[in-house]
Amino acid sequence: MLMTDDEVCLARRVMNFSAGPATLLLDVLETIQRDLLNWQGTGMSAMELSHRGVEFQSIAKRSEQALRDLLLIPDHYHVLFLAGGATGQFAAIPMNLATQEGSAVYLETGLWSQKASAEAQAYTHVHAISMLTERNGLQTIADFAFDTLPQDAAYLHYTSNETINGIAFPSPPAKHNLPLVVDMSSDLLSQPIDVSQFGLIYACAQKNLGISGVTIVIVRDDLLKTSQHGTPSIFDYQKQIAANCCVNTPPCFSWYVSGLVFEWIQSYGGLEAMAAHNRNKADKLYAYIDASDFYHNKVDTTVRSIMNVPFHLPTAELDTLFAIQAKTAGLSTLEGHRSVGGIRASLYNAMTLEGVERLIQFMQQFEQQHSKS
Ligand SMILES: Cc1ncc(COP(=O)(O)O)c(C=O)c1O
Repeated sequence: MLMTDDEVCLARRVMNFSAGPATLLLDVLETIQRDLLNWQGTGMSAMELSHRGVEFQSIAKRSEQALRDLLLIPDHYHVLFLAGGATGQFAAIPMNLATQEGSAVYLETGLWSQKASAEAQAYTHVHAISMLTERNGLQTIADFAFDTLPQDAAYLHYTSNETINGIAFPSPPAKHNLPLVVDMSSDLLSQPIDVSQFGLIYACAQKNLGISGVTIVIVRDDLLKTSQHGTPSIFDYQKQIAANCCVNTPPCFSWYVSGLVFEWIQSYGGLEAMAAHNRNKADKLYAYIDASDFYHNKVDTTVRSIMNVPFHLPTAELDTLFAIQAKTAGLSTLEGHRSVGGIRASLYNAMTLEGVERLIQFMQQFEQQHSKS
């Protein structure tokens, strides 16, 4: 029997291991498809709704509420849906929370935290602490005496999950008195967190929270002060809060998609269930890598990411061949970041267990064909 066009499209969907923009759940994509021509009887798609109209405002409120429910966000935290990506926040955070004369502490554990730290230097004095080190030939996060930090710094910034090198803080840095600011771009909503431990949490959406375009900022009320002179209005938290994140036209469609993703996580069983799903996938992949002499992950087990699993084959040529042949087998975007090479499998919420099992199967076959022994 001939397949319909829709069935052909579905059959051609691949397992997408991209680090971001990343795979979206099929349920979410199908809801978008269903809503596309006529969102909730309006005769318009969510892309065409006026951001100031009651329809879009209902999408905005529902998305915020779903996020608040998932993360149990206390009332004294504001939730912002902004444009500009996580990179925009690298500048917005010091502009809003620090002063030109003051300072902020930045922990550097990889490329993203280094970029955040470098960007902040235009707006405040940055105490950058390099924490990426090697122990027994494996990359890890160095110990640091946090009680030696300047006590008058505006905040301590870190990146909970370094998307490129697959290194994650097992728990937030402790034993200091500074408000914690965290870039959770690649792990927000992958597991439960205690929001009250943080002064500000931010994340771009295109990994676990939807599609690119919208960036989520969760900020504690008492940290808000007058922003630095010259702060653009769209980056000014107080102005955005006063305008319900509509200082200008917000990234409406991305905001709507995030709302669908939050509701999907709720229906999956919330963040405890999500964490179990993610842990199971990552454990299976790491167990296979660790048992093999052919594949190597270079990260200390105590700081391994459950979202991004980088690994290497015996040679760079085999890395390249692996990614090419995996793609032919329907396992897409497995190339490591251009700065580090190798392979990287991103296992965000929407990656299924079946996807990881298919990857492991492919790894077994590839190893049999290419290992020398
Ligand atoms: C941890 C982390 N921070 C920041 C960014 C930058 O995000 P954006 O491209 O939305 O600015 C990324 C993107 O991959 C990331 O993984």
